[in-house]
Amino acid sequence: MLRTERLNAGYGQLHILFDVDINVEKGITAIIGPNGSGKSTLLKSIFGIATVHSGSVFLNGKDITRIPPHEKVKLGMAYLPQTENVFSNLSVKENLMIAGYGLEEETLKDRIDSALEFFPELKNHLKRRAGTLSGGERQMLAMASALVKNAKILMLDEPTAQLSPKLAEKILERVQMMRDEKNLTIMLVEQNVKKALEISENAYLLVSGRVAFSGKACELLSHPKFEKMCVGILD
Ligand SMILES: Nc1ncnc2c1ncn2[C@@H]1O[C@H](COP(=O)(O)OP(=O)(O)OP(=O)(O)O)[C@@H](O)[C@H]1O
Ligand SMILES: [Mg+2]
Repeated sequence: MLRTERLNAGYGQLHILFDVDINVEKGITAIIGPNGSGKSTLLKSIFGIATVHSGSVFLNGKDITRIPPHEKVKLGMAYLPQTENVFSNLSVKENLMIAGYGLEEETLKDRIDSALEFFPELKNHLKRRAGTLSGGERQMLAMASALVKNAKILMLDEPTAQLSPKLAEKILERVQMMRDEKNLTIMLVEQNVKKALEISENAYLLVSGRVAFSGKACELLSHPKFEKMCVGILD
């Protein structure tokens, strides 16, 4: 569905990703790796907000490497950065309405209702400024906004960062539900490596900007050198 081919990317001249080949199929694909290994840069270069030096990104066979982010949104891609993934100064309701900007009134209402059924926690906070939500609620609002946009591919950058273990669990459950009930394809960057792999079908381990493992998430989980690999020790 979403594929990169020998992707070399970074920031301006800075080279961070080296010949990255990934293939994201339906379901959840976990992207893990030590801090600074290039996980966020991978999402950003796919979405078009980091510099792609060479290589390509394909969506359903179509080369989208040089397509600007707002066009990628129209193609059904949603990128949820780790922070600043909602409009803090706007209310929850306004955030959802902006996500559905341009939709017919009826469709917008249906989409918002359906997103709120998925994230009922938000129902009591519709008038609150998004900036005053808790970390978990804010994450839910960001995911609900993606549902309003009718996204098909979600790129989530550490949706459980800075959440309590209990709340992190809840968010990851909801990620699974989005896969199962909304049929979404999800790229999940996570620090909660074990939990992420447990809910993912496929996995990529990035170390120093290169793919160090690719395969079934369960294979990586049961790899005898799993713990070492996760911190970037590969031999
Ligand atoms: N905007 C930027 N400009 C220059 N260098 C950057 C920028 N963003 C990230 N980097 C650098 O790119 C490298 C990879 O960073 P990236 O954020 O992709 O790692 P990560 O795997 O997401 O790490 P973490 O687990 O800490 O989120 C790091 O060396 C980082 O310092
Ligand atoms: Mg990151």
